[in-house]
Amino acid sequence: MKEKVILYYFSPTGGTKKVGMIFSKAFAGSVEEVNLGAKGCKTCAEEVKAGTDCNIIVAAAPVFGGRIPHIVSEKLGELCGKGKKAVTLAVYGNRAYEDALLEMNDVLTGSGFEVIASGAFIAQHSMVPFVGAGRPDMTDTEEIEAFARAVSEKLDSCAVDCKIRSEVPGNHPYKDPMTIPATPISGESCTACGSCVRICPTDAISISEGKIQTDISKCMLCMACTAACPTHARILSPSVQAAMNDKLGALKAVRTKNEWFL
Ligand SMILES: Cc1cc2nc3c(=O)[nH]c(=O)nc-3n(C[C@H](O)[C@H](O)[C@H](O)COP(=O)(O)O)c2cc1C
Repeated sequence: MKEKVILYYFSPTGGTKKVGMIFSKAFAGSVEEVNLGAKGCKTCAEEVKAGTDCNIIVAAAPVFGGRIPHIVSEKLGELCGKGKKAVTLAVYGNRAYEDALLEMNDVLTGSGFEVIASGAFIAQHSMVPFVGAGRPDMTDTEEIEAFARAVSEKLDSCAVDCKIRSEVPGNHPYKDPMTIPATPISGESCTACGSCVRICPTDAISISEGKIQTDISKCMLCMACTAACPTHARILSPSVQAAMNDKLGALKAVRTKNEWFL
């Protein structure tokens, strides 16, 4: 087990963080967490400060439309790798991760990291929770921990060049970023408490005259506001929810496998 690791994650509804923490705790005795979705998260300064005693990072991102969210590529692109090692984790909702892992590895390599291993793991789908329901579960946890041990062994056996050997799936150019012309809405039980305003990573939500307003040009539909709403008033509109349920419904009966690359 390594001494320390820094986990950089973006996890609007908690699945990505869960996977990142299972990996990191199996991999290192001490885990420092950096939430890329937190307001005012200054990645490079934090990384330089924390990085003095830490030679390896873990980056964990959710998959949105087969890509990583732009907030993740921007923030990871600001890190100062300086040859440090990185493990990447793409966390997805049982459908497909397409170009997400490749994109994350490209971004971190561009920031000066040596990517040594990558994994694509399943978590409950944040828009259609009956898809991948309950994942990561016990079996996933065992697989994520086995991956952590394999990365640790790889590090112990490679003195200099630990670069990932296998090609991760994905294509250049990446697929076009997902566009769904909708935002979550606030239903009748909304008390305008402001939880959604505070959690929104892109400042897309505001309160005006006691009503919640959402700026569609800023909203990336990450679902953080729906997860944070204490009265469950923040939801996808019934028509969007029905369309998503229809689109992904068949995946309810499917158990997509975790994959990793060393
Ligand atoms: C806007 C959006 C797009 C998504 N696109 C995909 C996708 O392309 N493939 C997939 O399998 N899951 C997709 N998902 C599901 C998430 O990747 C999955 O639920 C992930 O665990 C969310 O991370 P979180 O729990 O940390 O928020 C999408 C979710 C959202 C909100």
